[in-house]
Amino acid sequence: MPQQTFRIQRYDPTEDRSYEEEFAVGVEAGKTVLDALNEIRWEQDGTLALRMSCRHAICGSCAMKINGSSMLACKTQISQAQERADASGAITVGPMGNQPVIKDLVVDMGIFMRQFERAETWLQPPPDQEPPQREFRQSKDSHDHWSHASSCIHCGACYSDCTVAEVDETFLGPAALAKAYRFVMDDRDSAKQERLQSLSGPGGVWDCTRCYMCVQACPKDVLPMDAIIELRAEAMAAGITNNHGSRHAKTFAGGVKKRGRLDEATLVPLSIGIGPAAIPQMLAYIPSAIRLLRSRKLIEAAKRHAASKDGRREIKRIFQEVEDEKHHDAVNAASYEALHEEALKAH
Ligand code: SF4
Ligand code: SF4
Ligand code: FES
Repeated sequence: MPQQTFRIQRYDPTEDRSYEEEFAVGVEAGKTVLDALNEIRWEQDGTLALRMSCRHAICGSCAMKINGSSMLACKTQISQAQERADASGAITVGPMGNQPVIKDLVVDMGIFMRQFERAETWLQPPPDQEPPQREFRQSKDSHDHWSHASSCIHCGACYSDCTVAEVDETFLGPAALAKAYRFVMDDRDSAKQERLQSLSGPGGVWDCTRCYMCVQACPKDVLPMDAIIELRAEAMAAGITNNHGSRHAKTFAGGVKKRGRLDEATLVPLSIGIGPAAIPQMLAYIPSAIRLLRSRKLIEAAKRHAASKDGRREIKRIFQEVEDEKHHDAVNAASYEALHEEALKAH
């Protein structure tokens, strides 16, 4: 039977010692990385610590880094992992990122789990609503909007690879934001406005850098980044625009629509906003602004990004098309809701 080397990142908490260790495991068709790790535990080194339960990509407990990316060990075939093995042919395995390691491949997921509590990811029906005879019904449109976000198995792979969570513990993170989105879009929930208000604050939707890592890592196609982008649009549509992120988005889009180019000179001041609260932030940007002026980068950038007359016309056409599409969707949604109401009444 062909052998495969696994290089495992280990941590011994009794001695506070991190080290790497190699093990060779026989490879057969259909064998997963989790199968290999179990074989190592059961036949070579019983001290290797890891979490697992279902072995069918359902419980979410076996997320770890395989060849540097977070994924479920039970869903990853050795043959798949071999495609991204290191130069020596070894498959590298390590604990998830952005969470403290307890032992070997086991991390403390407390920080990840607490983000759901902060995002209040539970249904909040109207407080004075009488419970219905059968069940709280939801519309198909509402369900279609969030059904992908309800597939989350809380494995933490997205949080492990999130580039913002790496530098900011206060960031709610992709999974909690995707779950929050699920409740924002649920038409049985009564706290949409309050949710959007709080999700637009520090650590919320505007702190995501749209790096796409969470979408790549997610084994359940929850599409957390897409949910975050939709939450931003929902917040802006709900009039929650008094924040850095939405001002930045509006200034960015407005500049491109009007002048056919990114206007870097106005982007920062207009994103920060106007008024006494903005003064400390403005002052903090002065050294960078002086450096940009000295290096003539602002002038060069303005020249470089200028669009031709035809280009500007094309940009305006794209904006118009998107706006028409949004109008069309809104009309369709309204017609669907009316039909749905009628069907419920008839029922
Ligand atoms: S897209 Fe946003 S939430 Fe997702 S990993 Fe990147 S920074 Fe984190
Ligand atoms: S969003 Fe995907 S990657 Fe993140 S915790 Fe849920 S299932 Fe795991
Ligand atoms: S063991 Fe349950 S998801 Fe892998």
